[in-house]
Amino acid sequence: MDKIIIHGGRRLEGEVAVSGSKNAALPILISSLLTSEPCVYQGIPQLVDINTALKLLAGLGVVVDKESWVKGGGDIILRPDRVRNFEASYDLVRTMRASFLVLGPLLARFGYAHVSTPGGCAIGTRPVNLHLKGLAEMGATIEQVHGYVEAKAKKLRGAQIYLDLPSVGATENLMMAASLAEGTTVIENAAKEPEIEDLAAALNKMGARVEGAGGDLIRVEGVSSLGGLTHRVIPDRIEAASFVIAGALIGGDVLVTGVRPAHLDAFFIKLKEAGIELSIDANGVRVKGNNTIKSVDVTTLPYPGFPTDMQAQMMVLMSVADGVSVITETIFENRFMHAQELDRMGADIRLEGNRAVVRGVKELSGAPVMATDLRASVSLVLAGLVANGTTEVSRVYHLDRGYEHIEKKFSKLGAAIERVKG
Ligand code: EPZ
Repeated sequence: MDKIIIHGGRRLEGEVAVSGSKNAALPILISSLLTSEPCVYQGIPQLVDINTALKLLAGLGVVVDKESWVKGGGDIILRPDRVRNFEASYDLVRTMRASFLVLGPLLARFGYAHVSTPGGCAIGTRPVNLHLKGLAEMGATIEQVHGYVEAKAKKLRGAQIYLDLPSVGATENLMMAASLAEGTTVIENAAKEPEIEDLAAALNKMGARVEGAGGDLIRVEGVSSLGGLTHRVIPDRIEAASFVIAGALIGGDVLVTGVRPAHLDAFFIKLKEAGIELSIDANGVRVKGNNTIKSVDVTTLPYPGFPTDMQAQMMVLMSVADGVSVITETIFENRFMHAQELDRMGADIRLEGNRAVVRGVKELSGAPVMATDLRASVSLVLAGLVANGTTEVSRVYHLDRGYEHIEKKFSKLGAAIERVKG
């Protein structure tokens, strides 16, 4: 298994361009199942999770042209006219939970789907009850047996659905299913993330009638069929924010380009509270690192609140801040695994249930550490950049799921970072 070695303390200088959003690309690529016409997607990041999604779609019979994407051009063409198989296996869904999003589209277009339930993962149990409840309300018969969901529906019908939690995945699955249902579906307490808006934009280009995405009430008027499209996915706000934290920790002067600042309001407010100097304009975000970092309290919330996917990265910043901060994780029940690794680097973090009390220390020291999930792994890289000495991050396959060529991007900014093939 590959490792990433970082010699800390190098000031970061320069410009880094943000890649396309993983969490927009995954549901949007899967939404191609709703049509038989060619779908052209642009700005798709070169990530392991994207490759898993393409394998999943190819297994269903979608013809995948990823020539440009493989070379870093970011374009993918999907031809879903010969979808013959309606099963997503445990192996694939276990590897990437977002595979569960094929359920809604397969059910809506073919009336049948046999999809493994994702099961838990490192950060939590990750149930899918809200996905299934909504589909049942749209008339699907759902059976759960041997770890699989078997769903059938002659024709889905529009329904009034209330989500007990603003689940991103449930909103995406139900929005896709509703686009081909008979009648109108209303999804109340919908997730409001930018990735939901981007999926709705892609669906509407295919001829769907989705209104209100980005708000908590989404209305979908079902249509009889959908066509192909060309769509460029939005930039990855979490990758962008991770680079902004790197600049705050050990800039220099870093310009993060390609990000849509409006997607990171809550995050920027917290950084300003922490005394980080940011200049934000349409081209991106500039961050300087020569500030005293103040401790601030952070609570993760559904969008537009502080993103749970930025919690681990913020914990690194707070671990070298000048006070005590309390970080409360309200979205996932086990998303503090990076804390003990950071403690091994000299951080002072005490966990109390879903709260982490972070007492800022003067400096972190490099150490061998282990990545446990996607965002935890990038927090260990961030800690290594600012730590005194050498940090060796193992199990970087977690990192490759969500960050495109991260060590190249950081070394371009002046970091002493390399990947050692394992
Ligand atoms: C998406 O996961 C993202 N993944 C996650 O990013 C992100 O952390 C999460 O949304 C929250 O923002 C993708 O978009 C591929 P949820 P998802 O359904 O859809 C509970 C990353 O690092 N819940 O909004 O799985 C669930 O247990 C990943 O890129 C139910 O109880 O998140 C969790 O506590 C990690 N029942 C909360 O809702 C359900 O049926 C939020 O989950 C569904 C969810």
